[in-house]
Amino acid sequence: YEIYLNGMTGAVPRLPADLTRLEEVAEARLGPGPVGYVAGSAGNGSTERANRAALDRHRIVPRMLRDVRRRNLSVELFGTRLPAPLALAPIGVLSIMHPDAECAAARAAAAQGVPFILSSASSTPMERVAEAMGDGERWFQLYWGKDREVTRSFLDRAKACGFTALVVTLDTPLLAWRPRDLDQAYLPFLRGVGTANYFTDPAFQAGLAKPVHEDLDAAVLHFVQMFGDPGKTWEDLAFLREHWDGPIVLKGVLHPDDARRAEQTGMDGVVVSNHGGRQVGGSIGAADALPGVVEAVGDRLAVLFDSGVRTGDDVFKALALGARAVLLGRPYAYGLGLDGQPGVEHVIRALLAEFELTLALSGHTDAAGLTPEALG
Ligand code: FNR
Repeated sequence: YEIYLNGMTGAVPRLPADLTRLEEVAEARLGPGPVGYVAGSAGNGSTERANRAALDRHRIVPRMLRDVRRRNLSVELFGTRLPAPLALAPIGVLSIMHPDAECAAARAAAAQGVPFILSSASSTPMERVAEAMGDGERWFQLYWGKDREVTRSFLDRAKACGFTALVVTLDTPLLAWRPRDLDQAYLPFLRGVGTANYFTDPAFQAGLAKPVHEDLDAAVLHFVQMFGDPGKTWEDLAFLREHWDGPIVLKGVLHPDDARRAEQTGMDGVVVSNHGGRQVGGSIGAADALPGVVEAVGDRLAVLFDSGVRTGDDVFKALALGARAVLLGRPYAYGLGLDGQPGVEHVIRALLAEFELTLALSGHTDAAGLTPEALG
């Protein structure tokens, strides 16, 4: 109503209410380079299309005449009550979208009570982001590279900065074949963007012959060499379990057997995700992988979901399929690029408003109580 009332005085919102239009608006205003990096995906984009197709295939069957005056969007995750089943996905290099980068996005998340997941590859050191967001709920996403000392140092720093959960991304031991970036020869990391956590890290610095400011190229090269580790196996998770006493969530799980393995190795949750189609071209749509993972571990592990969430009804569908919460990716990066912190807040509020309306109009009142029966 706030938006309609403002409209009566001629004030229309700066950003579209239809979040699927953000990419187009962002590209027109910010140019193709950075937006292309955010929008781009692996191969010919078939996984990204599969993500949309999988969500679109499921249809909500609304039910009528059920008192929906009082709605409850809150969910419990890892012993914490969240106001809504939503967190901001880890997205690296956000300074390509806005100079206030992760700090603006993290402040927006904190203001809306939504957990912010900070990427290892952020353009701002984790200490500054933590400071910017006060006591807002924050989780740390780990890119689990070759250097154990750097990994351990990241965990120590993240703990000291108040990050509660650790999100370990499994689907990026190597960067994928991303034609848009290849054609533009555009990879932010090679310009030193997304290296802030590494370049400020004592363990990383110890591996350099000269300090970062004296030889940036050598530092970037060292970063690229240790960033991913295609040699990792399930056995290696014991190291993380030993050095992180909070919840650990594995991001990028698509097969039920991998979810079972996560449980056997003492993990607390999984994110069913294909990295927004940015890693494996031709992959299963993430929402098609969700029911199998939920069936395998859903009653014991927290199953989260991302890849393709653009609307409130996508949130509804993911929850009905068994996800405990969803992570929002690209849309908030566009919101950030277009209008900094307020832009991200707009995106969060629009998504949750639409979700709440969809919930009520479909005859439901409790986000945590949705089941596949809500779908046709
Ligand atoms: C990502 N994603 C990502 N994931 C991660 O674990 N660490 C990271 O640093 C990044 N960086 C990143 C950058 C950009 C530009 C994008 C678009 C995505 C993946 C992200 O967390 C999430 O899985 C996807 O964004 C979900 O797909 P949609 O919904 O954005 O299409």
